Amino acid sequence: MPRILITGCSSGFGQAIAAQFLDQGWDVIATMRSPSAAGLPEGERLKVLALDVTDPESIAAAVADAGQIDALVNNAGVGMLNVLEGADIDRVRELFETNVLGAMAMTRAVMPAMRTQRNGVIVNVSSSVTLRPLPALSIYSASKAALNAFTESFALEAAEFGVRVRLVLPGSAKATSFGQNAVARMGMDIPQAYGPFVQAYVQSLQSEAKKTEVGDVAQAVWRAVTDETAPMKLPAGADATALFREEGLPVG
Ligand SMILES: NC(=O)c1ccc[n+]([C@@H]2O[C@H](COP(=O)([O-])OP(=O)(O)OC[C@H]3O[C@@H](n4cnc5c(N)ncnc54)[C@H](OP(=O)(O)O)[C@@H]3O)[C@@H](O)[C@H]2O)c1
Repeated sequence: MPRILITGCSSGFGQAIAAQFLDQGWDVIATMRSPSAAGLPEGERLKVLALDVTDPESIAAAVADAGQIDALVNNAGVGMLNVLEGADIDRVRELFETNVLGAMAMTRAVMPAMRTQRNGVIVNVSSSVTLRPLPALSIYSASKAALNAFTESFALEAAEFGVRVRLVLPGSAKATSFGQNAVARMGMDIPQAYGPFVQAYVQSLQSEAKKTEVGDVAQAVWRAVTDETAPMKLPAGADATALFREEGLPVG
């Protein structure tokens, strides 16, 4: 059976992606900082491993424990809803450590084996916020834009060795704990001068009718991993698909 390693499986998209691959008969290595099978389907094909993508020792141990894998999904990520002036720069660094360097470090860790076996797929979970400038998301968008740029260029290096690299860009999902986790970890101390502006923007976000479901992301990642003809960037969710169309990007 093919084997996939997914980061950030303690909640949200990670759990849905793990469930999708288990359902399709894959062996799944679901990784998370505090290992627990809660929220994941039970079964012999599921292995839960500890992994913090910002910790080199944790990465080395998880990749060694995982053994041979056919696919890696860099899904772990943190958000930040704030204007630049309200953001603590240490938190910004932390966010980039997870969203950008974490994905790079994981990719670097699995690449020697994939290069040698001349086979493998790496999918990075980015965001549709990278398609359009948005206020109060400048830092988060910058991290995901960096992930996009890294992924598209790295894909050329990996292709030399038969390894495919793809991006999935989800839209806004109300069903995950992403927003709450972002506020809990990164704070949301909006400077007073920006208060009404950010409040109006957040209200406009909440009133958007089109949104992304966790299943949309699981489906898009499934396609990115299993369909060799999938484009470099795949939208996930009705809102992301609408944005792709508005930007003239192929929707798959
Ligand atoms: N939800 C949205 O609206 C949305 C939209 C577009 C893109 N995305 C992207 O989709 C991905 C998943 O988000 P989600 O909505 O499922 O949010 P979520 O429920 O908050 O899940 C994020 C996951 O990342 C993990 N994580 C955070 N820092 C980590 C680290 N240093 N090492 C390993 N794992 C870490 C979290 O684990 P812990 O429990 O250990 O913190 C959690 O499992 C993220 O990359 C996010 O940027 C989300």
